[in-house]
Amino acid sequence: MNLIIGPMRVRLQDAAETVMSTAKLFSPMQVGKLNLVNRIVIAPMCQYSAEDGCMTDWHLIHLGHLALSGAALLTIEATAVTPEGRITYADVGLYSDACEAAMRRTVESIRRWSQMPIAIQLSHAGRKASKDLPWKGGAQIAPDHANGWRTVAPSAVPFQAGESAPMALDRDGLARIRKAFVEAARRAVRLGLAAIQLHGAHGYLLHQFLSPLSNQRDDEYGGSLENRMRFPLEVMDAVRSAVPPDCPVTMRVSGTDWAQGGWDIEQTVAFAKALDARGCTAVHVSSGGLTPAGQIPVGPSYQVPLARAVKAATKMPVIAVGLITGYEQAEAIIGTGDADLIALARAILYDPRWPWHAAAFFGARVKAPDRYLRSQPHQFRNLFDMPSED
Ligand SMILES: Cc1cc2nc3c(=O)[nH]c(=O)nc-3n(C[C@H](O)[C@H](O)[C@H](O)COP(=O)(O)O)c2cc1C
Repeated sequence: MNLIIGPMRVRLQDAAETVMSTAKLFSPMQVGKLNLVNRIVIAPMCQYSAEDGCMTDWHLIHLGHLALSGAALLTIEATAVTPEGRITYADVGLYSDACEAAMRRTVESIRRWSQMPIAIQLSHAGRKASKDLPWKGGAQIAPDHANGWRTVAPSAVPFQAGESAPMALDRDGLARIRKAFVEAARRAVRLGLAAIQLHGAHGYLLHQFLSPLSNQRDDEYGGSLENRMRFPLEVMDAVRSAVPPDCPVTMRVSGTDWAQGGWDIEQTVAFAKALDARGCTAVHVSSGGLTPAGQIPVGPSYQVPLARAVKAATKMPVIAVGLITGYEQAEAIIGTGDADLIALARAILYDPRWPWHAAAFFGARVKAPDRYLRSQPHQFRNLFDMPSED
């Protein structure tokens, strides 16, 4: 059916298609100097496919295809700042020139074909290091076995019974790890990465300092909340001041251990306020991972209330994550203001075109590579109507 509007003859369908989507999920956002085209972040996902900390072709395939997904930001997996900070012997690291060169090859190849900004998560696994690959059971590998090493932690408390206890870090050990975070951050800046996320979640080293279940120190790094926050905040300060002021530095936190006597949302809010006051650019709110005793109420959006609590108490942008799989579910999280951004992990591995499909659902637009423009379905005529990729 045609309509006559002044001198223009417009098909009704075209008129409907020219109406811009009102989906908040597809509204742009600025985070520090980072321009995000929508609110969809690809969460960091370990691939256990590196050799001596160096990315391999798998990383180019994996990150490369996610970089064509139409999300706003791609986050490189937990990247160890020291060799003993790797979860497994096949984790990516950024602790040597060889690691940096391998990452440069991957990142530069992706950049030739995608404008999606690439962030990196810097991590130290602490007592959760020296593990086998998840698909081989993920058990701890003893220090005297091939591919195993002695782990370090705030206190000599193993993650679970039957594991070798980690070595409690002394002052020199703390200084060494702080410096390793700084050096890895400098390498990330040299690689032109768009943002640095510090891994303070999932029971890894920084979280081990925060939680009273893993931190039983009696010096100024243990005991009170202020003392338990000290080392993670020192790492934030050290990284923040080592990189250019406009480089976003964010923190991923576990909002709770889901365990009696552990880290909880009140402490997370206090930590988030301290991060906000120190120039942390954004906070990504996950949960769990500190203890196998955690009782996690897994279900759709189960971590969103934690993000909401942090959002209510701070000014910095908040990212929600965890079983966000539906388009309207994601839209509701952004639309209600529970969080500023949503992150996807399993859903985008399962459906790497999730952002395209969400955009089609809402009548919004995504970037697609020129080579794929012909795939635009007939009924979504303006879906790919974004500036060209290359
Ligand atoms: C394969 C895989 C690898 C992961 N690796 C990391 C990682 O490197 N760093 C991290 O903080 N979380 C990691 N996670 C957790 C996710 O980032 C995410 O927080 C979690 O899967 C919940 O989100 P989802 O329900 O969208 O999967 C990983 C998850 C998966 C499925």
